[in-house]
Amino acid sequence: MKIGIIADLHLPKKEFPPRPEPGKKPTPLPDDPVTAGVKAFYEKAKEEKYDFVINLGDLVEGTGNGDDDYMTASMFSRSMISSTVNTYYVLGNHDAMFIPKDLLLHCSQTLGGAYSFIKEGVLFIALDANYSCDGKSYEPGASDWTDSYIPDAQKEFLKKQLDRTDFERAVILCHQRLDLFMDGLEHVNPHVVGNAEEIRNILESSGKTALVLQAHYHSGDDTVQNGIRYYTQQAFFKKYAYSVLTVTENGFAIEKETI
Ligand SMILES: [Fe+2]
Repeated sequence: MKIGIIADLHLPKKEFPPRPEPGKKPTPLPDDPVTAGVKAFYEKAKEEKYDFVINLGDLVEGTGNGDDDYMTASMFSRSMISSTVNTYYVLGNHDAMFIPKDLLLHCSQTLGGAYSFIKEGVLFIALDANYSCDGKSYEPGASDWTDSYIPDAQKEFLKKQLDRTDFERAVILCHQRLDLFMDGLEHVNPHVVGNAEEIRNILESSGKTALVLQAHYHSGDDTVQNGIRYYTQQAFFKKYAYSVLTVTENGFAIEKETI
């Protein structure tokens, strides 16, 4: 199984083409460089027959105007619909800070943007850490990216999923970092989820989690902690970086690529 991974597109605001003369079709504007890069990525995904793509969040940069940002996200999604490669989205803080969550994903009242799916014996669990530590979901205009949190309902969901018996290995997806990543010796870096330690304990005690895919920290990173690999995907918008995850019977291999 081959999976394409992208993150942190931070799409700029999409502009509309000028109004055409009566009877004529509008001339589409050229794509911004990031959208053009993503299209090239999907061409590659099709050629190389990726089974699916995981987009780890921060689709939009966010202008502060929710209507513009939603338009950017939906125009982008529409332009990707012709792609034959299915994509699983994870909500990023920029997405949730500017657009109501349920406009971008099928969100549930209790789990927000968290969900799971199984492919070839691998259980993928997407988490939504776009909450503040008081358990309140991010809302447009009222969110602080340094305060991210996975609320109790998602912790229970995660435990239940990992207790299932119909899979062999689990991969966790989260926009924000879940590994222990310190600023010097004293502070946990703000790109890490506020209650990441609790989540790591759940993952470690299940014994079935091999890999966590995360983003948000634009330079990317790759660590192994207590037997679990935490791979932080580098941001796409700066250097058109993406990764290819190959899942075999023996394990997971990740290759870094650029467009
Ligand atoms: Fe982010």
